[in-house]
Amino acid sequence: MLPLQGKVAMVTGAGRGIGRAIALALARQGADMAINYASNDAAAEEVRDQIRAMGRRAELFKCDISDDAKVHAMGESVNKAFPLVQILVNNAGITRDKTFTKMGHAEWDAVVDTNLKGPVQMTHFFLPQMIESGWGRIINITSVIGQMGNFGQTNYAAAKGGLDAFSKSLARETARKGVTVNCVAPGFIRTDMTSGVPEKALQHIKDITPMGRMGEPEEIAEVVAFLADPKQAFITGQEIGVNGGLYM
Ligand code: NAI
Repeated sequence: MLPLQGKVAMVTGAGRGIGRAIALALARQGADMAINYASNDAAAEEVRDQIRAMGRRAELFKCDISDDAKVHAMGESVNKAFPLVQILVNNAGITRDKTFTKMGHAEWDAVVDTNLKGPVQMTHFFLPQMIESGWGRIINITSVIGQMGNFGQTNYAAAKGGLDAFSKSLARETARKGVTVNCVAPGFIRTDMTSGVPEKALQHIKDITPMGRMGEPEEIAEVVAFLADPKQAFITGQEIGVNGGLYM
């Protein structure tokens, strides 16, 4: 029997990139999947169909997770299809880079609302059912930038660092309720998020990464699947770096 068989997992921003790899990895471990995505119907349908082809249930939930009211409405739709969600992966995230003196409210709010408030609202909706069932896994995708800081990313670093601090506090609250809360902090990973980075900057990233390369989405997904496994019952409040040695 697969480790996640009979469990339902919800992944945000799972139409592409790291979220897509996570949804596929959890399904491979036996989970039925509630797949959130923001806009690209065709990409999300492709992920859903791949998961169904594995013999799992998979349903799509289109929603902007930065909007509280929409998150609540989506949660209710998810629970109509899947009455109990026990694994939540908060993966959706954006960047709006600018140096701090040039940064306006628009860039600040968009990043904090998506990368911090979104995961908080998602957790607020799904945590009670995990606690009631006596078992749950919350896995938040943070970033090496939240650990190290980065030029032009005060908004992103604050949101990701905040998400890690939120996770640690929540882990203490849920530790005796069967619910673990952990973060996975990727280094630089080859996805659409980094595809716009100029070649020179990409070379610099590779140069400062001890392993001399960028990571692949599947390398993040494997760690998320590991943390979701019922066997990992004694790991909570951790932020696991998957960064080729960039931050130790
Ligand atoms: P991506 O841009 O390829 O994928 C992000 C996904 O989130 C997209 O499908 C997008 O539509 C979705 N999304 C964005 N805003 C949303 C919203 N308001 N509601 C619902 N979905 C929304 O990026 P990637 O690289 O796959 O990133 C995934 C996560 O990993 C993000 O949280 C990102 O911050 C984090 N990360 C990525 C790194 C990288 O080098 N690619 C490094 C460190 C962290």
